[in-house]
Amino acid sequence: MTDADRTLYEQALAASARAYAPYSRFHVGAVVRTRDGRLYEGVNVENAAYPLGVCAEKTALARAVADGCRPGDFEAIGITASPCGGCRQWLVEMRLERVVYRSDRDGVVARTPAELLPDTFELGA
Ligand code: THU
Repeated sequence: MTDADRTLYEQALAASARAYAPYSRFHVGAVVRTRDGRLYEGVNVENAAYPLGVCAEKTALARAVADGCRPGDFEAIGITASPCGGCRQWLVEMRLERVVYRSDRDGVVARTPAELLPDTFELGA
C-alpha cells in the first residue's frame, strides 16, 4: 500500500456518501485514476427492480470510458468494498494495474486484477 493508494481509497470513501442504495443500504464508492492523473468517481445505483442496480466500480469505469478512456489507460481504482465477481471481470477487461479495496478479512489492501480473478478467458485464443 502506497500513500497514493491510501488517498485513492479515501476518495472512494468520500464518494460512497453519494451512493443510491435505499434497498441494501450498502453504500459503495469507487474512484478510478488514469495514467495521466484524471479521476472518475462512481457509486452504486440501485433500483426497485433489484437486478437492475449497478455497482460503484461499473459506474466509475463507465464514466471514464464515456470520456474516451480505454483498457490500459487506468492505473488504479479505489473501492470501499470487495469487488463482486462481475466487477472483477470488468477490472480484467479494463486492464487496471492496481485494485485498492476494503476487504472484510484483511482491511484495505492492494491487489492486481489477476489475483482477484485468475485464469480468465480470451476471445479467439
Ligand atoms: N456493490 C457494489 O457497488 N460493488 C461491489 O463490488 C459489491 C456490491 C453494491 C451492489 C448493491 O447495490 C450493494 O452493493 C449490495 O450488494
